[in-house]
Formats: sequence, C-alpha cells, structure tokens
Amino acid sequence: MTTLPALPADLTTPAYVLDMAALERNMATAARLRREAGCRVLLATKAFAMPAAFGLMRESLDGTTASGEYEARLGRETFGKEVHVYAPAYGPGEVERLLSIADHIYFNSPGQIGLYLAQAKAAGREIGIRINPGYSNATLGGALYDPCAPCSRFGTTMDRLGELPWGDIDIMHTHTLCESLHDGSVGLIEHVARTLGDYVRRVKAVNFGGGHFINKPGYDLSALIAAIKAFKAEFGVDVILEPGAGLVVDTGYLVSSVLDVHWNEKDIAILDTSASTHMPDVLEVPYKPPVFEAGEPGERGHDVILAGKTCMTGDVIGEYSFARKLKPGDRVVFGDMMQYSLVKNNVFNGTPLPDLAVLDKDGTYRVVKRFGYRDFADKLG
Ligand SMILES: Cc1ncc(COP(=O)(O)O)c(C=O)c1O
Repeated sequence: MTTLPALPADLTTPAYVLDMAALERNMATAARLRREAGCRVLLATKAFAMPAAFGLMRESLDGTTASGEYEARLGRETFGKEVHVYAPAYGPGEVERLLSIADHIYFNSPGQIGLYLAQAKAAGREIGIRINPGYSNATLGGALYDPCAPCSRFGTTMDRLGELPWGDIDIMHTHTLCESLHDGSVGLIEHVARTLGDYVRRVKAVNFGGGHFINKPGYDLSALIAAIKAFKAEFGVDVILEPGAGLVVDTGYLVSSVLDVHWNEKDIAILDTSASTHMPDVLEVPYKPPVFEAGEPGERGHDVILAGKTCMTGDVIGEYSFARKLKPGDRVVFGDMMQYSLVKNNVFNGTPLPDLAVLDKDGTYRVVKRFGYRDFADKLG
C-alpha cells in the first residue's frame, strides 16, 4: 500500500479519493509497456471508470474496452481513441447500436458471430472472437474469477474452433487472468503460441485480455515485454492488452468516519461506509481491505471490528487494531479502492453514495461528484 498523502481535515465522508500522483506512476508503467513491447493497451472500464481521470490516462493508453453498449458509449463519449466491446451475448438491437460507437466488436461463440457477422462487417468494424484456451491462472477467488473454470460461459472452447469463420476474424481474444503476476501473463502468451498458433496466423491481432497486474509490486514488466516481443516476432500480429485493476491498483482511498462504537464481546466501530454498498468485493471475493494506520488484531493495542451501517448482518469489513481506541468522528481510510469498488457500489438500504473526489498532484482536493437522495429515489422508479 502507498503512504497516505495529506487529505483535508474537514473533507465530507464517505468519499472515494483518486490520488493523481499514484495514477500517474501507474500510467508510466503502461506507457513503458506500450513503448517497449510495441503493443496496444486499453483500459477495461468495468474495473474503473472515472471520466475525471481520463485526461491523464488517455496520454498513456490506446482506448477503452467495454462489456456492452453503455460502457462502450461512456468510452466513446468521455475517453475517445479506440473503443472495443465484448459481451458473452448481445441483447436485441445492441450490436446495431454498437456499430456507431465501437470500432472493434468481439463475439463469444460460433452462434453469436453467425448472427451478427454480416452486419458488423458491412459497417466496417473489426471482428473479434473470444476463445477459451483452457489456461487457468486467476490468483483471486478461485473458480469465481477464473474464466476457464469448468462450464465457464466465456469464449469458444477449443473443440469448436473449426466452426468459426476465420477468414472474417480480425482479432483473437483470450481473457483468462485475474490479478496475475508476470508468470501468469507470460504463461498465457506461451500457451496461446503453443496451442493456437495455426489460428493466430489467420488473424491480425491477439488480445490477451485483462488480469495482468502490471503495477503490483513483484510484477516483472520486462518478462511481459519480452514475451510479447517474442510472440509478435513469431506470428507477425499485433498484440493488445486490456487490464483494468492492473492500471489503477493502489491509486486511491475510501475515506470514512466512525459513527459509533458498539460493544458486543468486542468493540465494533460502525462506519458511514459499508462493505455491502461501497466495497462489495470485500464480501464477494471475499477479502480484507487494507486500512491506513491499522494492523492485524493484537498488533497495535486496540482491536476493533469495522462494520457497515446497513441492516445486513454480514456487512462487516474485518477486524483490525489501532494504536488508540476509535471514537465517533474518527476517520478510517481504506486503501486500494479504485479497482471495482466505485463501479460496483450500490444504494442498498438507502445508503448514501460516497463523494467522488480527486487529490491533485499539488495537494488540491476536488469533489467531482456528490450524490444525494435523488440518486437513490430515481433508481427505484
Ligand atoms: C474480458 C475482460 N477484459 C478485461 C478485464 C479486466 O480485468 P482486470 O480488471 O482483472 O484487469 C475483464 C475482467 O473481468 C474481462 O472480463
């Protein structure tokens, strides 16, 4: 976890705070990858989408990749550059609408490509196909985050490759990783070279998906660069990567306040944030998020369970220890909160959404969006 920069003492909580200095450091990694490997790097907006950051990100990336019409439109309207889109299946009229938004449209199966190929080709779009290459390396959440887990719905399986119209396919897509270090990235590239070489020779580009945790300490970027260069040299194709989490890991915080400290066998601090509404992956993965100035229970003198204010019994973030006893009004800051937390948040229980804020490099704190009652009520119709 990075060190926590100075935040205004009076900031309104809860707030997701993007740290622009940290994002700039991560973008330098992406810029080096593009430059030295000669590949394209897209932001997967499913992991992070804050248009206030896109000015900076645009300089180091080739565009965005989307999970469907709305994300593609957001990418087109707020990021620009290339717009790629993939969905396991498209809804009625979705592909037609995407033709005026996305440059590259990826399909999941022989059935989906058969339905939409003529339409997408006639509009001059590049056609991608997602393959399930049977390579499992997701380091997070086991089968929950492994696109090649048994019975996965993602991608055409190896036994059906012969059903695809390879003469019309521009891009082969293989997303199989999740929070993987370089061994996973390199392993995937070498696996595709070994098992799909004959098909790679028939396309213009291979997209190795996301899950490349390129900004995580311990990730050897040089190993990835070398693998991409070797792949390009062997097959003469372009290479595309579309990380999400790996671009924004450790670039921001969720700042919360203690509302009350309850006692039931242990101290339980009830916060103005919550796992189930503001950091749903804490419960879904599950994982214990890093907290600044806190340690594991028993380490710092005052153990406390951090919990949300929703009615869900399991809305518990975890047990930590602090150097002093928490009291109402104290601030609790969670680290590494830019990946997936803010894109997945919700207003369950009428829980107010956190501010979206930016901490600029000169220390200026800017709230770019504050939500209110209407955001809750409008969603309910
Ligand atoms: C097709 C595809 N591309 C890219 C990503 C981004 O992955 P990550 O945020 O782990 O880098 C995902 C994540 O689920 C995905 O499904």
